[in-house]
Amino acid sequence: MKWDNRRERNKELFSLNRRRFLSLSGVFGLALISGKSDIAMGITEKEGKMTYQNKDYNRLLGMEGFSDTLLKNHFALYQGYVTNTNKSMDALSQLLKEGKTGTVEYAELKRRLGWEFNGMRLHEYYFENLGGKGGIRKGGKLVQKLAESFGSYEAWEKDFKGTGTIRGVGWVVLYQDILSGKFINFWINEHDVGHPAGGMPILIMDVFEHAFMIDYGLKRADYIEAFFRNINWTEVEKRLLLHKG
Ligand SMILES: [Fe+2]
Repeated sequence: MKWDNRRERNKELFSLNRRRFLSLSGVFGLALISGKSDIAMGITEKEGKMTYQNKDYNRLLGMEGFSDTLLKNHFALYQGYVTNTNKSMDALSQLLKEGKTGTVEYAELKRRLGWEFNGMRLHEYYFENLGGKGGIRKGGKLVQKLAESFGSYEAWEKDFKGTGTIRGVGWVVLYQDILSGKFINFWINEHDVGHPAGGMPILIMDVFEHAFMIDYGLKRADYIEAFFRNINWTEVEKRLLLHKG
């Protein structure tokens, strides 16, 4: 690749990263632009302090294959992550102000923040990629991209579902590597471990036991089938459009 091309590509990637940051991660971006709170983006600003807000996913109640009891329990669990993300960030901010960055409390809270923040954000991606009907757009860009990375859409789906049934609890995430454009299904053991650097989550499936055991017991494969029947592919494709490639 010629240097000029690399420079142009880097500029483009920077532009994409910034746009992605402003539009997806969120929250900080919109607040910085508007200077006021935006609950729809899940954050409010008060006295210069950013606070994450619980997002309302009650629209998912009644979804085929998911009982209201399971979903309400799952929403409550998600809300705990939002609360603890805010608490962790507040406490860290206070320790910073007090010059206590060298303390055990600061170190442990820093380690904890990845768990709480990712627990919040992964659930948001998960709930937001549910509630759809009608399946993936045949001939759409996502189908085409998945075929490029996996050989066919069917091969991707087989790999995604296979990842979801391995022993253990965690997440299955279809990531797009922003630098190569390649799609990879990742198994995430814990919220804060195993995410690929520079990866953009495209489709998230929760396979912690709380996501399915109330309705399916140990039959995780049946839950995965129900999950697939309810994927909001329109939302998933929007995430794709934020990427290069
Ligand atoms: Fe969950």
